[in-house]
Amino acid sequence: TRSRILVTTPIPEPGPSLLDGAAEVTVLEEPPTYEDLAARCASGEFDVVLTQLRDRIDAPLLARAKVKGISNFAVGYNNIDIAAATGRGIMVGNTPGVLTDATADIAMLLILGTGRRVIEADRMVREGRFHGWEPELMLGADVSGRTLGLAGFGRIARATARRALAFGMEVLFAPRPPADRPVDESELGEFAGRVRKVSWDGLVAESDYLSLHVPLTEGTRHLVDADVLGRMKPSAILINTARGPVVDEAALVRALRSGTIAGAGLDVFEDEPRLAPGLADLPNTVLLPHIGSATVSVRAEMSRLSALNAIAMAEGRTPDHPVNPEAWS
Ligand code: GLV
Ligand code: GLV
Repeated sequence: TRSRILVTTPIPEPGPSLLDGAAEVTVLEEPPTYEDLAARCASGEFDVVLTQLRDRIDAPLLARAKVKGISNFAVGYNNIDIAAATGRGIMVGNTPGVLTDATADIAMLLILGTGRRVIEADRMVREGRFHGWEPELMLGADVSGRTLGLAGFGRIARATARRALAFGMEVLFAPRPPADRPVDESELGEFAGRVRKVSWDGLVAESDYLSLHVPLTEGTRHLVDADVLGRMKPSAILINTARGPVVDEAALVRALRSGTIAGAGLDVFEDEPRLAPGLADLPNTVLLPHIGSATVSVRAEMSRLSALNAIAMAEGRTPDHPVNPEAWS
């Protein structure tokens, strides 16, 4: 009999064609509620579920689930309780690599866009408030010559470093705080001698732009809180293309209001799609709807990888991109 795959939200090609060629596929046209998804996972009707970031796959859901695998349509997997999945012998797959450059592009865009006030400037033009060139119109912050601090030094951080170096920025990084794995100078590769490794406290104090590139874990939740914001330069700008809960968003609003820091460029929010009260009213922010990986070709690649992961797991094979390969051992 063919294996059975549940897809919780329609995805772009080529995923649907690949899945249809290999399995009985059920695609939910509307994102399921938590209860609906939990019931479907528990029904025994599906071998694998292909999930989105907003599908919460927690321990209670996993405790009842009768699936072999979960294929997440994302590189991040904070929506899934990985330890609980492993404990239940459920493999999880993700889509690393294909969205690295696109997400780094958005980090660079937020650096440029907050520094040079692109949203405020665009609004001025559209609202008919541009009355001709003026010596002090819309003065912003420099990008070239300024210091970019990268929290974390994984794929996306490195791709952002590459862009920032090309823009003439000085680049610092601190390994994932709290450091779970130190980065050795010998691992810097193309960045040896071009980026400087500092402590987390040094990164916070020295950065003109502080960009977050850590996964969301219990250790990184509210990594940037009122205390950290208070230790940043008053001229500093916070960039977040990682996960919203890494920042205490209410504390960020207070810091932006009071001038504790100068601005923020955010592609992710603590409680998406909601924003912390007051955030949307602040002019010194650029706010994007979680579009780091949102290009036509990247979403097609994510579709392909997540479909191939799902098919492999449905057929009892370890997928190309497992998060917890030990789940089946
Ligand atoms: C998007 O945020 C992803 O994790 O792929
Ligand atoms: C995510 O893919 C990262 O390693 O930054």
